[in-house]
Amino acid sequence: MRNEQHNGAIKSAKNVVDIDLAYICRHLEQEFGAMAGKRLLITGGAGFLGHYLVQSLLHWNRIQPERAITLTVYDSFIRGVPEWLKRCSTESTLNVVKHDIRDPLPDNMGDYQYLIHAASIASPTYYRKFPIETMDANVNGLRSLLDYCLCQKENGKPVGGFLFFSTSEIYGDPAPESIPTPETYRGNVSCTGPRACYDESKRYGETLCVNFAERYQLPIRIARPFNNYGPGLKITDGRALPDFVRDVLAGRDIVLLSDGAPTRTFCYVADAVVGYYKILTGGKNGEAYNIGVETPEISIRELADRVTSLASGLLGYKGKVVHKVSSDKDYLVDNPNRRCPVIKKARTDLGYDPSISLETGLTHSLIWYRENREAEES
Ligand SMILES: NC(=O)c1ccc[n+]([C@@H]2O[C@H](COP(=O)([O-])OP(=O)(O)OC[C@H]3O[C@@H](n4cnc5c(N)ncnc54)[C@H](O)[C@@H]3O)[C@@H](O)[C@H]2O)c1
Repeated sequence: MRNEQHNGAIKSAKNVVDIDLAYICRHLEQEFGAMAGKRLLITGGAGFLGHYLVQSLLHWNRIQPERAITLTVYDSFIRGVPEWLKRCSTESTLNVVKHDIRDPLPDNMGDYQYLIHAASIASPTYYRKFPIETMDANVNGLRSLLDYCLCQKENGKPVGGFLFFSTSEIYGDPAPESIPTPETYRGNVSCTGPRACYDESKRYGETLCVNFAERYQLPIRIARPFNNYGPGLKITDGRALPDFVRDVLAGRDIVLLSDGAPTRTFCYVADAVVGYYKILTGGKNGEAYNIGVETPEISIRELADRVTSLASGLLGYKGKVVHKVSSDKDYLVDNPNRRCPVIKKARTDLGYDPSISLETGLTHSLIWYRENREAEES
């Protein structure tokens, strides 16, 4: 993979974030330009993807004040208010509202030209703890927002773009001949297993989106993220990389709770966020786009080995990778063996072109986590 980032002399988490925000804005000049003077609502904006979805837009507003975009974040803060969002609260173009998307939308919410629905619990550890809440956010919360878009159209104030965050999990555990997986693959998913609350509510969410787009001619688009990682992903999240980094920063061996054989491609969050804004502003109505990277497809064990070796150079880490068995009997149930996207559609339709290598992304992540080794959980 090409590597547009420069790693030289990155010393702090702030350096990492500044480099990433500049990268995102450079690749979204046209898209952010098209949104200038408009209002954007992001639900779930306090989460991992919100970290760069929100901050890249605020960065744009600082460097292009005459083409600023006004931003509102709705979040229930089910897992606390992150420090970065508290720090942004003085920005004049940002309005943060505590709102649970399962509840009816506020009467006086105003006119938004762009909406992103990212509010949903995304970590398997947490959605299995809160399955009903997860389904309600993806189905009922989505429905309220789609009704809002329809109402705006009927009132002569049509929205310019709506983005629903679906997931690569809607493909379930694809048959070998369907990997790498294109958008046309229909999925191999359990509707009753421990992950079904997430996978199936995202699938139904997509069905809602497609039908609203078709029946009412609304600009509703869908993103299917494939394993995003990087700054903003809480160390307590329970996903693989933060778990490994937590072990590294505690100076203990990295513990794998599986044999580490399942494979994934990992997409650095700055590249992914560029893809999401491209779908929001330029995606085809009623269509879904894979957002991820095609290579390298590596095992979870190899990811742990790469983290070990990078951390040894960057942080003087001396640990190794060890295997243990999870006490949670459902930990690996329905966990896909391979996950790897075809991203030709996003490349062709939207000019999505991820360029940050795994090594750069992991280096940025380690530097960021070094200063973000704790996260509030409510
Ligand atoms: N990060 C990934 O790799 C990935 C992969 C596939 C899909 N997604 C999807 O992208 C979206 C964002 O993911 P993320 O990684 O940022 O997740 P996250 O869990 O880090 O953040 C989600 C945010 O939504 C908020 N939220 C949850 N339920 C809510 C509700 N009912 N009302 C209002 N706010 C609520 C949470 O407080 C949190 O701030 C989610 O819809 C997720 O399913 C992410």
